[in-house]
Amino acid sequence: METKILTPQQIATAAKLIQAGQLVAFPTETVYGLGADATNPTAVKQVYAAKGRPSDNPLIVHVSDIAMVQQFAAVIPPVAQQLMEQFWPGSLTIILPVKPGSLDRVVTGGLTTVAFRLPANEVTRALIRQAGVPLVGPSANTSGKPSPTTAQHVAHDLNGKIAAIVDDGPTKVGVESTVIDLSTSHPAILRPGAITKAQLATIVGDLNVDHHHVDAKETPKAPGMKYTHYSPKATVIQVADADWNLVREQVANDATVGILAFDRQVAAFTSLKTYSLGTDVTSASARLFAGLRYFDDLPEIKTIYVATVPVTGLGAAYMNRLNKSAGGQWFKK
Ligand code: TXA
Ligand code: MG
Repeated sequence: METKILTPQQIATAAKLIQAGQLVAFPTETVYGLGADATNPTAVKQVYAAKGRPSDNPLIVHVSDIAMVQQFAAVIPPVAQQLMEQFWPGSLTIILPVKPGSLDRVVTGGLTTVAFRLPANEVTRALIRQAGVPLVGPSANTSGKPSPTTAQHVAHDLNGKIAAIVDDGPTKVGVESTVIDLSTSHPAILRPGAITKAQLATIVGDLNVDHHHVDAKETPKAPGMKYTHYSPKATVIQVADADWNLVREQVANDATVGILAFDRQVAAFTSLKTYSLGTDVTSASARLFAGLRYFDDLPEIKTIYVATVPVTGLGAAYMNRLNKSAGGQWFKK
């Protein structure tokens, strides 16, 4: 199939494709999502096939308003309602008990809960409204690869496998939404994102953080956490701020090395391939996945050294993604 690139003005075409059970990638403020009608199990199955995603990894249901959540959630507790009012539209995904029989198990991965998100991108909210149904939306990458932050990244992974991509330019946040589980009596953050723990705590109070590394034998709360993630072809190595001088001494003339770091750090690597993370954690989060993908297109690069940030605020999200893509590896003196 030929994958059409649609402009934001062509939402009506995208909505018709969704209603016909086709797959359409859509922009959000975090990363691009792979959309299908969440109420059409045949369409949702194709999402797993196109991504090569394991079928026990449930999908986020993207809505255009809170009323849509009421159709599929068994209950919206007051704290969930408050979070929706405070942070939606935005980079927060909320897990609630599913209303029995309202969604096929292919959406929930057989769990009794379901994840909801109202994205900030207006084009996509218009698409959901026009389609008249919520959209499942995993990140629109091949499973295991860094999430896509441009329509070109989506085309690179899924061209020929999906009906269309709505191109609304590069995403702003660059890391996926914060996932909070409100389906139990102990609210927990399952994935850090741009909505920080401190922001959530103002409404939820005390919060568990449940995105530690789990191995294949454990059952993580967010099934997606047990799979390899964000992996480019090259080996990724995390570099502590204080170690950049040592890295330079060791690899300054090694053409198999790529440098993904802040402006102040890449300046020292004039003879290597570099990709800038900009100046702060906001630009770094927006560019991390694009940077990893940049080196995928350079076959000579075997190792990528990547800058780290303090694990606080948005830095918790950046470091969570980077640590996964590095398989936990750090530069050692
Ligand atoms: O920013 C985002 O959230 C992007 C954009 C497109 O909205 N979407 C996204 O979806 O990152 P995905 O499928 O790549 O990641 C969803 C994560 C997975 O780790 C999945 O296991 C978890 O959320 N998840 C989904 N439903 C769940 C549920 N009912 N219980 C626990 N975890 C769930
Ligand atoms: Mg993903």
